[in-house]
Parts: sequence; structure tokens; C-alpha cells
Amino acid sequence: IPVDDFDLVIFGGTGDLARRKILPGLYRRFCAGQMPETARVIGAARSDHSTEEFRQMVGDAIREFSKKNECEEEGIGAFLDRLDYVQVDARGEGGWDDLKAKMRDDVIKAYYFSVAPSLFGDLAERLMSHRIADPDARIVVEKPFGRDLESARKLNADLARHFAETQIYRIDHYLGKETVQNLMAVRFGNILFEPLWNSQYVDHIQITVAETVGVGGRGEYYDRAGAMRDMVQNHLMQLLCLIAMEPPSRFNPDAVRDEKLKVIRALEPVDHHHIVRGQYEAKGEEPSFREDVGDPRSRTESFVAMRVMISNWRWAGTPFFLRTGKKLRARTSEIAVVFKDAPHSIFGEEAGRHANVLSIRLQPNEGITLKVTIKEPGPGGMRLIDVPLDMSFAEALGEEAEEITDAYERLIMDVIRGNQTLFMRGDEVEAAWAWTDPIIQGWELRSDVPKTYDAYSSGPEDAAMMLHREGRRWREIR
Ligand code: BG6
Repeated sequence: IPVDDFDLVIFGGTGDLARRKILPGLYRRFCAGQMPETARVIGAARSDHSTEEFRQMVGDAIREFSKKNECEEEGIGAFLDRLDYVQVDARGEGGWDDLKAKMRDDVIKAYYFSVAPSLFGDLAERLMSHRIADPDARIVVEKPFGRDLESARKLNADLARHFAETQIYRIDHYLGKETVQNLMAVRFGNILFEPLWNSQYVDHIQITVAETVGVGGRGEYYDRAGAMRDMVQNHLMQLLCLIAMEPPSRFNPDAVRDEKLKVIRALEPVDHHHIVRGQYEAKGEEPSFREDVGDPRSRTESFVAMRVMISNWRWAGTPFFLRTGKKLRARTSEIAVVFKDAPHSIFGEEAGRHANVLSIRLQPNEGITLKVTIKEPGPGGMRLIDVPLDMSFAEALGEEAEEITDAYERLIMDVIRGNQTLFMRGDEVEAAWAWTDPIIQGWELRSDVPKTYDAYSSGPEDAAMMLHREGRRWREIR
């Protein structure tokens, strides 16, 4: 079903994110018939380009970054016809009247700020002073949404001066991932899990987002951010919220976001004994982190593992272990709910003790596995073994799984539909920074140096030790 007709302006329309994700995503929605044929996408940036040049650039980006073989040349041409370009000066007055002249009345207007956060306030102000945005206009902003509580508050205030919270769509692309939404479906669409989803039955929960890539061409940004700001404050925090939150009364924006906010506010401060930071070392030809970011003394972490506690009735006493890093053994994102042992073994200790584990694989090979205990086959008496009840979405859903939409395309369509459920509210972002700030400040105060780890390993030894000390262990990264 197509969404309503719209004009979408992408500030930073020639930038990396626009080329890799936003424009190819829109193109796929266009091919799927979801983007109306009359809808328009207007690239806006500082540089001087003709619309023709912009179309050419987008065509190249689609061919380069689109998945599978979905680029029919004809479809690309029809999509490119929907594009326009305007040169604007975010900090000055140039180009704004041209932009205004291009906007149609009576269609949904959305403005995607795919630019450095330092420009958010300027863009918001000019959209209003040039009367380009109407009261229903939406603005879309990207991370990094600040680098601490203070800067996030300022960004929120800058936007709030011109736009209502209901007009602001803060993207965390993890919320747009199919399986991340599936977390909510699994928890709240089944009666099986929710009764056990608490500290009485759950021993601990592990959230792992492991990447094989290094910092790539983003060394400068990453060296100032580190894994804590780049991944934990946003993506891992969102996963933690969805796993830990109370059932919202409805699947609507504020009901869901209220529950997530309560989780963030219930997070206990993390003692530095419960965090391990890591930095990858060179391996063979592969450069080290310090080489990658061009700073031989960098103390930035490319890996972090931590033990997080939630102070509320449901979770008191159940640790959540979070772990993420670059250049790890495999690319895998997974949430594992490790249940407690059965309270009493009727088979005697020699039969072995086994805990159920529910693991939700977010990417790649999306699916759910439940580890259950059964009898070892054969005449050897009552010995217990674990077997997986394994459900791969690709197998269970067949072709439908192949059509899983990319996070960005889903989120952009939600912007046009006016559905904020999968976007972060301002107070949520601030609460996440309020929890993150003291952790980072602690490192700075202590001049903390990350532990090193071999590239393509599972991270620093200390991270393994952190769980080992409590008689637990990380799940393998594979
Ligand atoms: C981004 C981070 O937000 O998420 C990157 O800035 C990271 O450093 C990326 O690589 C991971 O996203 P995905 O969708 O590949 O898991």
C-alpha cells in the first residue's frame, strides 16, 4: 500500500549516508510500489550540482549499494525522475528561497538532516524563518545525537525552539531492523515467555553486537566517540530496553517509549570493575586501531563489555551483560536469555544440570533458538543432553524472509506515515546519556587505557574473566 504523497528533502543529500542507505532505500520502496509515483525527493547540499548531476550520482549509488539484483534499469530511470537538487547554505541565506519554490502544497513534507549535528539548529531555524516547514512537517535526525548529556540537551532545545516533539524523528537504525521488532512480537505475542521473563527464572541476559569491520574511513569520528558512544548509548541501549521493558498497553509511540524510558531510568550506575574496554592490535598486514585512527597514543575503545543491573521489581538481581566491538571473530548480533537451572534434579546430579537458553539472532541468519534438555538416546540410563529447537526465519518464512526490508527504508516510510513508535523520544536520549556520562567521565578521570585484543578474536581476556569470576561465561562469537 503506498504511503501518502510527499516531498522529502535530504540535507546532506550527496553525503555518505544518503548514498549508501537513504536513497537506495527510497528506491527500493519506489520499486515495491510503496513510494507514490508522484512523491519527490529533493537533495540539498552545499555544493553546486545540477539536478542532472545529482540524478547521475544517485543512479550510481543505487547500482553500487542496492542489495540483490533488484535494479531494473527502467525502474531506476523512473525513480531518478522523482529527484531534484538544490544548493543551500545551511548557515547562510543562499538557496532557501529556491528550496521553498520547489516544495508543493498539500503533500506531506519531511526534512532529513543527514548532516553534522552542529547544523541541526541552523537548519531548523531556516526552515521556519523561510516558512518552508508547515506545522505538520517532519524532521528526521541521525545519530550521533550529542556526545554527552549536555550536548544532547542543547540539540533537543535547538530543535524544540522550532518544532514540536511530535514532528521530530530521531533515528536509531537498530529499531528499524526486522528482528529487533520481532523481539517485541516474540515477547508480547506469545504467552510462553512472559511469565518466565523476570529475575525469578532468568539467570542473566547477554546482548552481543560483534562486528568484523574496523573503523574503516571513519577514524576521525570514531576516535572521538569510541564504542561506548557509537554503539552502547544508542543501539545496545535500545536492545536492552526492548528486552527488559514492561509490556506497553498498546503498540503506540508513547506507550512503547514510556516503557523504554522507565528501563533507562532504572539502570544502576556501573562500577568500573564491571566494565572492560578493549582496543584491537595489528594482525599480519591488518593495521591496529591506533594506526586506523592515526593516533599512536589513542585511548579510545573499539570494544566494550559490561555488566548492567536494572533496579526494579522484575529485574533486581539479574545481570545484563552487554558486549560490542570492532574487528571481532565474526559479525553477529544476538540476545541470549539464559534461564536458571531447574530447582531440583529428579535424575540425580550425575545426569547433569542444564539451563534453558533462548537466543534471538538479530543478524545475520536471523532466527530464534531455544535450547532444551532431553534424554540422551540409547540404553545408557537417564543422562541429559541439550538440543536446540531451532527456527531460522529464512527457513520458516521462505520467500517472505528474503523481502525483509532494510532498516532505513522502513523508518523513512514510518516518517511519512507519521508513526513515531520506532524513533527515540528526546527524554529517552537524554536519559541514556545521563547514564553513559559518568562511565565515560570515570575513564577520563582515571586516564584509563583499554586492554588490547587480537584483531578477529573474541575481545580482551579480561572480558572473559569478568564473567568467569561469577561462574558464568560469554556465548561464543561465531
Ligand atoms: C552505526 C555505527 O551506528 O552502526 C557503526 O556508527 C556500526 O560504527 C553500525 O558499524 C552497525 O550497524 P549494522 O546495521 O551494520 O549492525
